[in-house]
Amino acid sequence: MNDQTGSLKVSDKSVDLPLKKGTVGPDVLDIGKLYQDTGMFTYDPGFTSTASCESAITYIDGDKGVLLHRGYPIEQLAEHGDFLETCYVLLYGELPTAAQKADFDYRVTRHTMVHEQMARFFQGFRRDAHPMAVMVASVGALSAFYHDSTDITDPNQRMIASMRMIAKIPTLAAMAFKYNVGQPFVYPTNSLDYTSNFLKMCFAVPCDDYHVNPVLARALDRIFILHADHEQNASTSTVRLAGSSGANPFACIAAGIASLWGPAHGGANEAALKMLGEIGTVDRIPHFIARAKDKNDPFRLMGLGHRVYKNYDPRAKIMQKTSHEVLAELGINDDPLLDVAMELERIALHDDYFIEKKLYPNIDFYSGITLKAMGFPTNMFTVLFAVARTVGWIAQWREMIEDPHQKIGRPRQLYVGATKRDYVPISKRREG
Ligand code: CMC
Repeated sequence: MNDQTGSLKVSDKSVDLPLKKGTVGPDVLDIGKLYQDTGMFTYDPGFTSTASCESAITYIDGDKGVLLHRGYPIEQLAEHGDFLETCYVLLYGELPTAAQKADFDYRVTRHTMVHEQMARFFQGFRRDAHPMAVMVASVGALSAFYHDSTDITDPNQRMIASMRMIAKIPTLAAMAFKYNVGQPFVYPTNSLDYTSNFLKMCFAVPCDDYHVNPVLARALDRIFILHADHEQNASTSTVRLAGSSGANPFACIAAGIASLWGPAHGGANEAALKMLGEIGTVDRIPHFIARAKDKNDPFRLMGLGHRVYKNYDPRAKIMQKTSHEVLAELGINDDPLLDVAMELERIALHDDYFIEKKLYPNIDFYSGITLKAMGFPTNMFTVLFAVARTVGWIAQWREMIEDPHQKIGRPRQLYVGATKRDYVPISKRREG
């Protein structure tokens, strides 16, 4: 293999494949012409060795535990900036100047309200509907309300749809929460920053004054930054695949939310907190560790392990610090779930099973404890993830649409079903 091509030898046939280099990270073999040249497909269920696109947005080095957005380390974005600045970086590729930041904040803020008819749309759900089910439906329904920003060939409409999505998703998330707990919807307050406004829409009630706690607002804002994008994960790939057919952005993001809901992905924060509750006390941990190691038991320790990170998830470190800040602010000194989490983390970092398999705590390990302390019920955790990830989905969707080489995503398969056979009339089919 030289710098420009790689070669693949199958039986007696050898094919040269172009080798592509990124700015950092592993090279890729371009197999786009493999079928044409050999009549063969590649097989990679779960895409463990497949780059599905070129992207200049987010870079992860899973072995070193590095996460960069447009080159900026997640630690620095979380420490020095706010969530809307990270949104700007993801969408535009550069840190904004003060004037650009003020203009961006203004543009997002102007779109925070949703069409009043949306409130009627919510009435159709059962009160006990899972807020993620409500999010999938209500975000998908945005395309029925905002026809003037669904033409994906118009750059202006694409930008308006992007702004609308980032601005309205917290409003819809807060509405899903309020509907679930039986309280009236709270309209957005545009004088507040993005995250303070969200907290107010979730926790204010008409009969009381509501003051945003700045420590909690900063912590939640940081949680949003940590979840903003994560390159080609399941939900982002879902958004790209849905968008590759030309579907409108609201429908694509609804598809991303559906994918995020699963417990192996965004649903893990809800599952992690449930698991900590199920474990309950530190003395019961060994039993659950034994179950996690048992090959015949499907049980997994939620919040541990990651497809890409084979080192400490850099987001988990910041999340752990944020968790302690929130608990200290709220005067929660002896949360038994935190004791269980810390002991579980200690064991995971020292036990051979977890070390050998490189299973480190991921972001969801501590986010559940933090969100619970802030007053969010577990069924809202993945919704908050969706609020934050919307900008990542949008940035990735836009990058795909603007790529001149973009085509509809259409994987092939290894067919293992029946070969051709003749239809049998129903009267002649034998039972059993
Ligand atoms: N507890 C116990 N064993 C585990 C765990 C776990 N949490 N995760 C992986 N393993 C074992 C697994 O049994 C397998 O063992 P073996 O090689 O003996 O069969 C090995 O580690 C590799 O696991 P895998 O399922 O092949 O790895 P994957 O890359 O397909 O899965 C994962 C990654 C995140 C789905 C998985 O680690 C997991 O299910 N973790 C718990 C769920 C979770 O916390 N998900 C949140 C991910 S971070 C948020 C996000 O980005 O969405």
